Amino acid sequence: MFTTETRIGVCGAGAMGAGIAQVASRAGHKVIVLDRDDDALTSARAAVEKGAGALLKRGKINEEEAQAIAGRMQWSLHVADMAQCGLVIEAIVENMDVKTSLFKALEQVTGDNTVLATNTSSLSVTSLASGLERPAHFLGLHFFNPAPIMKLVEVISGAETDAGIASGALKLMQDWGKVAVAARDVPGFIVNRVARPYYGEGWRAFEDGAADAATIDFLYRDLAGFRMGPLELGDLIGHDINTAAAKSIFEAYEGRTRFTPSLAQRKLVAAGHLGRKSGRGVYDYSEGGERSAPLVSKPATNSNIGKIFLGAKAPAMKTVLENAGFAYEVQQDVPAGFAKLENTIVGFTDGRSSGALARELNNPVALIDWMRDPASTSALAFSASCDEARQSGMQLAAVCGMNTIELKDRPGLVVFRTLCQLANCAADAIGDQVTDADSVDRAMMNGVNYPFGPMAWAREFGFNAVVHALDAIADETNDMMYRPSEVLRNLTRSAL
Ligand code: NAI
Repeated sequence: MFTTETRIGVCGAGAMGAGIAQVASRAGHKVIVLDRDDDALTSARAAVEKGAGALLKRGKINEEEAQAIAGRMQWSLHVADMAQCGLVIEAIVENMDVKTSLFKALEQVTGDNTVLATNTSSLSVTSLASGLERPAHFLGLHFFNPAPIMKLVEVISGAETDAGIASGALKLMQDWGKVAVAARDVPGFIVNRVARPYYGEGWRAFEDGAADAATIDFLYRDLAGFRMGPLELGDLIGHDINTAAAKSIFEAYEGRTRFTPSLAQRKLVAAGHLGRKSGRGVYDYSEGGERSAPLVSKPATNSNIGKIFLGAKAPAMKTVLENAGFAYEVQQDVPAGFAKLENTIVGFTDGRSSGALARELNNPVALIDWMRDPASTSALAFSASCDEARQSGMQLAAVCGMNTIELKDRPGLVVFRTLCQLANCAADAIGDQVTDADSVDRAMMNGVNYPFGPMAWAREFGFNAVVHALDAIADETNDMMYRPSEVLRNLTRSAL
């Protein structure tokens, strides 16, 4: 359907349009970029030249290719110039009426076989197509910023999109070197919907006083390998943009799903602390402003640590102890999944808080937050049911040669609760037939750089254990938003 001979039109010469045009030209297409503002075209031309220069510098392309990227591009202020395009990708202002009138004008000048696409992040593809003469030739191609670098493109079919056109566009995006993922037209598509709990849970941990902001952000990086914690990421995106996105998704789903926006983040916006762009957000970016360090401490080494007894079915604790080279004994009266150090039951959180488990077992309990790999994690983050358990948590960290972070006790702690809720949200998207499990994972890894996909994580951790954890968090918080998705519950019965 599309070949390198297909002429590509890009409407809007802003950050996204310039980036998409560069990607299309690099793939060998002739590209024409339209804007209503001449200055925008001039800046976009400079941006594309700079982008090609950067590729040349990094050895990704040679001099000839760098020149060809610029040479294949044309710039225009007139819609009529898009007449010869086989595909037009729109990346203008995020406004339904302005976009619709541009698409109507494009339909008048382009041929019957031309495919029109929108790069919208938040508008409905189906609604944008509704006033058009050829809605079957219309779809969403959602690139991520910066388009030449971010691999993901969500290929969104509206209610009327022709299936052959959607699969042709998917193939074209792959030819452009992108990770193309098909999605149904729902608010937030895949990434902006499934990513909500990352921010939501970060803020909720902050509101609960689980730890201070710098420590919360550190946990996501150190324990799980995310590039940025949710609070610092909000500072980068801008809390005004981030809260608006949270609010619009929450309203679009009318509270049905798990997208409750954070009141603390809203308060930050009301105070004008929008993030890096305003000089202050969660952190202070003003000149001389200092960013507080995470509250990580080094436990005193205690040479009198007694024996550690391991219960049955405790592979994660076993890995931690073996990684530290600490000898343990298996003992059947230690609860399954946990270990015992002195008088304290220690182990990874399974969704319950230390306090809840201590009451259940009538024993001091220290629980550790999830970690991807004890060998590459620097701190053991734990909560304790009492002071005695706290001492044991410190001792365990000393045994493991790790620093400690003491968290306020809460069900599922911080990172584990977030991962469970991300999997829950990903499963909801699968249940709503937005996409499949593999595509959700590829979308999150390539659209927002997650270190692993939420569904792959849940599968590896065990769907059963994730469902139990979510139920435990819902029981203790008394918050319905944690109840497991029907899809997750079904997956406990049949492997995906
Ligand atoms: P931008 O504000 O940088 O650029 C928009 C450009 O469109 C401007 O140069 C403006 O002059 C031009 N324009 C506006 N109305 C026009 C019209 N009627 N005809 C021709 N040109 C017109 O915006 P940005 O950030 O590039 O976003 C563009 C679109 O991409 C929006 O729909 C946005 O939701 C979507 N998007 C943005 C992402 C981002 O991170 N910025 C990520 C993914 C999608």
